Amino acid sequence: MSRLWRYITSSRLWKSIYRNPYPRDKRSRAMVILNSLALHLHPVRVPKRATRITYTWGLGGLATWCFVLLTLTGVFLMWYYIPTTQDAYWTIVQLQTEVTFGAFLRNLHRWAAHAMVLAVLAHMTRVFYTGAYKPPRDFNWVIGVALLLVTCLLSFSGYLLPWDQLAYWAIAVGMEMGGATPFIGKQVRMALLGGFEIGQQTLIRWYTLHVIFLPLACILLMATHFWRVRKDGNISTPVYEDDDEETLRAVEARRQQLAE
Ligand code: HEM
Repeated sequence: MSRLWRYITSSRLWKSIYRNPYPRDKRSRAMVILNSLALHLHPVRVPKRATRITYTWGLGGLATWCFVLLTLTGVFLMWYYIPTTQDAYWTIVQLQTEVTFGAFLRNLHRWAAHAMVLAVLAHMTRVFYTGAYKPPRDFNWVIGVALLLVTCLLSFSGYLLPWDQLAYWAIAVGMEMGGATPFIGKQVRMALLGGFEIGQQTLIRWYTLHVIFLPLACILLMATHFWRVRKDGNISTPVYEDDDEETLRAVEARRQQLAE
């Protein structure tokens, strides 16, 4: 290490920004993760075999990044979109044809939404296929199911907002489905429509759900989901066909210990 570098890294200014020494050993690596707002979401230690890309395929992370992209592009879309039955469709047409990068922005939001649904479904399949839903991760599986539901509702509510023929008939079908709920069908239909027929009150309800309630619910559930991944002993440890007896026993013992 040069003298200049040592001088810089031992200065008070440097230490006020970087509170830990450069992570060269196990302890300082753990401290960097624990003391960083962004990094502490990540577990301090992950079993080496769980970091193989072919185990998780990074699908949970992919779903998270789709959500971040959707939030960013969604905020820009809100600058142009007006949630009234007269303006909604035309503001989208205007965005596509007159706003610089408007079509790009809209397509980014739309494709990220499709990608998020696919990533969540693929992530759920991976979790099921690798048996990661078993104790101690059974509660996190339930949180996951809620996340899947919120993701689908976000997708459906977004589909309605352009207020074109596709949107109109999607609402019509969705409301009839809601209306078929046993015993409280009428009330569910009324709550979803905001009245007796599709109109302004329906659009504003679904818009509010799409831009406030569902994203907030998603953020809360995601925070709980990540917290559980850490508390359930980090990500599950995979076993492979060519693992020897000893490794299999060690992995199973760890699973039992965490499940207790
Ligand atoms: C918005 C949706 C979701 C996001 C952002 C998300 C994110 C994540 C992330 C980042 C991880 C850790 C790394 C990984 O396995 O890729 C994880 C693990 C997990 N997720 Fe999700 N997830 C979502 C939906 C779901 C769903 C739908 C289920 C199941 C119904 C689920 C169940 C689980 C379980 C059980 C784990 C622990 C897996 C293990 O330890 O191997 N998640 N999730």
